[in-house]
Amino acid sequence: MQGRAHIISKNKKRFFTTVVASIAIVTSVYAFVEPYLIKYEKFSFFDKDIPAAFDGKRIVFIADIHRSHFFSQNRLKKLISMVNANSPDIILLGGDYTTHGEPQYIESVFSELATLNAPLGVYAVLGNHDHTQYLYLTKVSIKKANIQLLDNKATWVYIKHERIKIGGVGDLWHDIQTLSPTTTDVNSHDFVILLSHNPDYARTLSTDLVDLVLSGHSHGGQITFFGLWAYDRIYSNYTDGKFRHGLINLGFTQVFVTKGIGTVFLPMRFFARPEIVVITLRKEI
Ligand SMILES: [Fe+2]
Repeated sequence: MQGRAHIISKNKKRFFTTVVASIAIVTSVYAFVEPYLIKYEKFSFFDKDIPAAFDGKRIVFIADIHRSHFFSQNRLKKLISMVNANSPDIILLGGDYTTHGEPQYIESVFSELATLNAPLGVYAVLGNHDHTQYLYLTKVSIKKANIQLLDNKATWVYIKHERIKIGGVGDLWHDIQTLSPTTTDVNSHDFVILLSHNPDYARTLSTDLVDLVLSGHSHGGQITFFGLWAYDRIYSNYTDGKFRHGLINLGFTQVFVTKGIGTVFLPMRFFARPEIVVITLRKEI
């Protein structure tokens, strides 16, 4: 009897080990596949400050492409066609175009981003990885791609006589952040969008003139515990995970943090699918 009980317990142990090993293998394989599963994150953004001429206009926002040997030119081409397929009116880019700033990847990423198509313009800020090396080449390549760099700058975007303001700040970890170009000539009735690669910058804002902050950097945690938990300290000085992903209402402004496109460290994502953000502006009445 004792021998039989021993065999049953051995079989149970083997079964349990097989199940655990199978789950580990399946989740690991899936984590290598998830970076390829780019989805659209679509939502309407309502605000009374949105001018009537901009009601229904579409903004496409992408960040953290991280062109590298893990993110090929072919994947980049597919990404661009997915962006252009939405017929965006404005395209915003949130930084981290490469991972290590290798010249060949800087040139290849911006030669492809040059084919982005938006009648009201393509605007960008830099991320922390863009400061790694060859910063000047990155800036020149952005200009050559006909993309307007908004690090510590801002611009009015017009439709006839109506306008919205789009501004940007330098990366929180590697640059200064000057908000005044975005806020100096606006009043509380203007609609203002601010690009900041790092969402933690929004915690430092002390104005209600910015209506929407768009950020990346977090990669949505990149490798999470089934989307419920991530090691947030890797991208943030805070551990609350508040700016890991999604739309966050701070009262005086709203922040949208995208999970981004590419990966860092490992070419893996788990329950943090890459996304193209499509925002339809809606005038709140
Ligand atoms: Fe990034």
